[in-house]
Amino acid sequence: MSDNFILVLYYSRQGATKHLANTIARGVEEAGLEARLRTVPAVSAVCEQTEEAIPAQGDLYCSLDDLKSCAGLLVGSPTRFGNMAAPLKYFIDSTSSTWINGELIGKPAAVFTSSGSMHGGQESTLLSMMLPLFHHGMLLTGIPYSETHLHSTTDGGTPYGASHVSGNSHDKVPSEQELALCLALGKRVAEIAKKLTTVK
Ligand SMILES: Cc1cc2nc3c(=O)[nH]c(=O)nc-3n(C[C@H](O)[C@H](O)[C@H](O)COP(=O)(O)O)c2cc1C
Repeated sequence: MSDNFILVLYYSRQGATKHLANTIARGVEEAGLEARLRTVPAVSAVCEQTEEAIPAQGDLYCSLDDLKSCAGLLVGSPTRFGNMAAPLKYFIDSTSSTWINGELIGKPAAVFTSSGSMHGGQESTLLSMMLPLFHHGMLLTGIPYSETHLHSTTDGGTPYGASHVSGNSHDKVPSEQELALCLALGKRVAEIAKKLTTVK
């Protein structure tokens, strides 16, 4: 049985993906469900190095219990070499027990990303982020073209998920269109969750 919250799970080193996550969470809440924001720790190249279980600032680290009890999931990552960032993949690779127990089966899910450049691999990142969610039996959704900003955007925002182009110097804030599509995606996952039996 799921609780009445949508999990917004993201990794962000420089803050752009976190900005999208916060806006998506607002969309979830506008649809009447609680949004639970969770992040994952950085992965260190020094294998002995460990992080405190509770981060010094910002959102808490995601637990397997957060996954088990969510009614829906949105996953976000910076684009790195056309794929999701290692810390997020590392966390996903720790979800075998979630998979064995089928704890995400039938729950709605969507993805989002931030990239430095316009054609630097947003869509490959979004699509590849969906793959483990399919393995988990989740019901993936993108953004339908009835969201008019999808037609007018000249930067981020795709039918595969929400996105932002942060610029090669990381100097661009999310545009009106990018933010509107984040809100729409958060709302969409929440509305789908409400229609499914995952919400009490
Ligand atoms: C190791 C690394 C690889 C990256 N690879 C790409 C890439 O393939 N395409 C791209 O457009 N930007 C790439 N970037 C830039 C980030 O995607 C971009 O700065 C993003 O907005 C950072 O998100 P954040 O602020 O949430 O950390 C890369 C950055 C790093 C550090």
